[in-house]
Amino acid sequence: MATAVAAPVTPERIFQFAWGYAPPLILEAAIRHRVFDVLDSGPMTVAEVSQATGASERGLAAIMNALVGLEFLSKDGEGNYSLTPESAAFLVSTKPSFQGGLIRHTSEHLVPKWLNLNEVVATGKPVEAVNQQGPGSEFFHKFVNDIFPMSYGPAKALADHLDFNGAEGAVSVLDLAAGSGVWGIALAQSSPRVRVTAVDWNGVIPITRSNAAKFGLSERFSFAEGDLLEADFGSGHDVATLGHILHSEGVERSKKLLKKTCNALASGGTIAIAEFLVNADRRGPVNGLIFAVNMLVNTDTGGTYSFEEIAEWLSEAGFSQVRSLETHGPSPLILATKP
Ligand SMILES: C[S@@+](CC[C@H](N)C(=O)[O-])C[C@H]1O[C@@H](n2cnc3c(N)ncnc32)[C@H](O)[C@@H]1O
Repeated sequence: MATAVAAPVTPERIFQFAWGYAPPLILEAAIRHRVFDVLDSGPMTVAEVSQATGASERGLAAIMNALVGLEFLSKDGEGNYSLTPESAAFLVSTKPSFQGGLIRHTSEHLVPKWLNLNEVVATGKPVEAVNQQGPGSEFFHKFVNDIFPMSYGPAKALADHLDFNGAEGAVSVLDLAAGSGVWGIALAQSSPRVRVTAVDWNGVIPITRSNAAKFGLSERFSFAEGDLLEADFGSGHDVATLGHILHSEGVERSKKLLKKTCNALASGGTIAIAEFLVNADRRGPVNGLIFAVNMLVNTDTGGTYSFEEIAEWLSEAGFSQVRSLETHGPSPLILATKP
């Protein structure tokens, strides 16, 4: 019988991760200098990209070669660079499928907070928390439109799943922590019967309001401003969406928010929660585990949670039939019903 030989331990991964901060910064520089946008018209040399963007040839050569190594660009023998299917689909800023919005915040908003990580680990407290209205409103005002595309597909999939076409009368949707309004907008687009109440801080509601107008939905949107645990949610809603909010609220506030949401729904109403979920044993997925560190540096008590944890909070809050819905977003949605 052959004996398995253990692979030798090497420092290769450590060398690789020593530069772990580089790929998002390189992607951001390429997005900001419109590298993917100009290559969308066809293959180009570094000199041609420089001419089209105004950026230096030395700078572009360095980042474009790194992007070839990272497989976001390809290069032929004549030095012509092209988009890959992935970058053509998701990194061209003029396309509605653009997913580089988050990346655009790397140098200005994300990395500066992460630079405090040593200190934050020592104290367990962020240097400045985005879950507080002042800095939070300012940050989210700039941020929410950039993450619209991340949730638009999942929100449309939720609308298909809920299928309001056969509904009689109005369908009332409560879009909590609405931000760009992506969840309410997709649900409103799915049926003329849908009316949306969007809740967010008063510094962010103007963004929600202007997006609803852009989509021609102003007449079907109303707004409630304020902290989620204080704002008036109204009552008798058929659907409540909580898009990417529990992670910054932390456990205690999330439990209160779910209870308050349950009270605001009609019997038979559905709650839909979008989160970056982690497995119950917190061994993966790595994005969810890293996002918990992002919540450590950015919030007072936030984190990432498992389906099982959120399911338990939903049951405690009075919901039943907790289930997940695959929508091809970062994680499946969690749905539950008010009995
Ligand atoms: C990550 S964004 C998500 C926006 C949108 N739901 C989505 O899925 O794209 C979080 C939103 O919650 C709002 N928010 C965060 N904490 C809040 C609080 N305590 N009270 C009211 N709004 C809050 C922010 O202003 C921001 O618009």
